[in-house]
Amino acid sequence: MTGNRTFTMIKPEAVAAGSMGKIMDMIIDNGFKVVALKYTRLSRQEAGEFYAVHKERPFYGELVDYMASGPIIAAILEKDNAVAVFRELIGATDPAQAAEGTIRKRFAESKAKNAVHGSDSDANAEIEGSYFFSGRERF
Ligand code: CMP
Repeated sequence: MTGNRTFTMIKPEAVAAGSMGKIMDMIIDNGFKVVALKYTRLSRQEAGEFYAVHKERPFYGELVDYMASGPIIAAILEKDNAVAVFRELIGATDPAQAAEGTIRKRFAESKAKNAVHGSDSDANAEIEGSYFFSGRERF
């Protein structure tokens, strides 16, 4: 079951632009079942914990400040081969490199403000989903 799930966040700039409904529509229209969903905001400390894997990267401080800058949507999504299929749907990290028809091509502002997060492995999808959701919040 875990292998069929991924975790996503709709990031602050996309929420502020009012794009969360359109992005959720793209996700659902592409066959993902919404297993869990939450409108919330990360503190700086929480954003730092969530992205701890990037701690040594030069953009870490900017990333943490940005992710704590406003509310986000967090969700667990289910579909066959969810991690890989979802990464295809969102497109490359840098919207300038993202393919036509992808979420980042349509909604991302920049490499940092790139509209959505998608887990990079089944193991991280489980860790990231569990950071936001308890068992009784998953359907
Ligand atoms: P995400 O998929 O959430 O995973 C790590 C995030 O770090 C990434 O999306 C971007 O928001 C951010 N990121 C990655 N590379 C850069 C970069 N070169 N400059 C700024 N932010 C970056």
